[in-house]
Amino acid sequence: MTNADLEKIVDTSDEWIASRTGIRERRVANGMVTSDMAVIAATSALEMADTDRDEIEMLILATVTPDYRLPSAACVVQEKMELNNAGAFDVVAACTGFINALSIASSFIENGNIKKALVIGVEKLSTFTNYKDRNTCVLFGDGAGAVVVSAEEGDRGIINSFIKSDGRYRKLLWSEVGGAANPYSESFDFNGNDKIMMNGSDIFKIAVKEMSNATLKVIEDAGLTVDDIAIVVPHQANIRIIEALAKRIKISMDKVFLNIAKYGNTSAASVPLALDEANREGRIKDGDYVVMVAFGGGLIWGATLVKW
Ligand code: ACO
Repeated sequence: MTNADLEKIVDTSDEWIASRTGIRERRVANGMVTSDMAVIAATSALEMADTDRDEIEMLILATVTPDYRLPSAACVVQEKMELNNAGAFDVVAACTGFINALSIASSFIENGNIKKALVIGVEKLSTFTNYKDRNTCVLFGDGAGAVVVSAEEGDRGIINSFIKSDGRYRKLLWSEVGGAANPYSESFDFNGNDKIMMNGSDIFKIAVKEMSNATLKVIEDAGLTVDDIAIVVPHQANIRIIEALAKRIKISMDKVFLNIAKYGNTSAASVPLALDEANREGRIKDGDYVVMVAFGGGLIWGATLVKW
């Protein structure tokens, strides 16, 4: 769905969207559900990591748009991929979900509980977007990304992670109707309250501050400096948030990966989509220090430092 397509639906323009957000297109997964996208990404990740499905002992799937309220999307994906040796569960942490899922996988591996985990970030936000609200509908898209996390000797891998949240800000980005607090009822006029509702400018300011702090924390906790980092792979929400983050932590935009123009904000899928493209484009070399950082509804934010 291009910005021109959106011009036909709401009072907006390609110029406004591109200049305020950096987004030119976003994907809409017509004819597919969340688990279908997850299976495509996860199958590709298993191939890339030369991993057999029976080796996967844990499947962690980050999403706020599961196929069903019950069971988890992870269990649907488990069935579709026949991952019969895994324990599967979802993580609900909006745009930060992939960082949370990755750090859980890493902890289980470090503790010696498991040797291999499959971590997926996937969203079908098009089902959850109010296409009458120009403040939000121009931002979001569908997508999926996945990684295999394995126990390995040596100093490469996930070095540390940081996760923080502040529930006092929960109504800056939320969906009021559809949960136990306000269940769906036939007589209720939803008026878009069952879709994503957002206060963009407040989120913008907090996102810049906390994504910067989280990035610096994982770098400094590892005894490194920003100069040691080969590439930052940030959550792709708004190019201006990412540019402000780079300025604040004093890193060149040459070392910050961007693909927001093609996908918009894909929430939990955003970081793994960007990581995969950065990797396939040869932007990440063996031994590079990579920081992934994200921020989203909760509000919740986090970062992970990896030695590739
Ligand atoms: N097209 C045209 N005009 C629009 C559109 C649109 N699609 N959307 C909003 N506007 C108008 C508003 O109605 C408002 O008009 P008004 O001043 O007459 O009331 C005006 O534009 C708002 O302009 P700004 O305040 O300058 O907008 P801003 O620069 O803050 O950009 C945006 C808005 C893009 C939402 C920005 O605040 C943002 O990206 N915030 C972060 C939100 C976000 O990313 N949320 C996702 C989850 S959290 C995360 O992932 C980080």
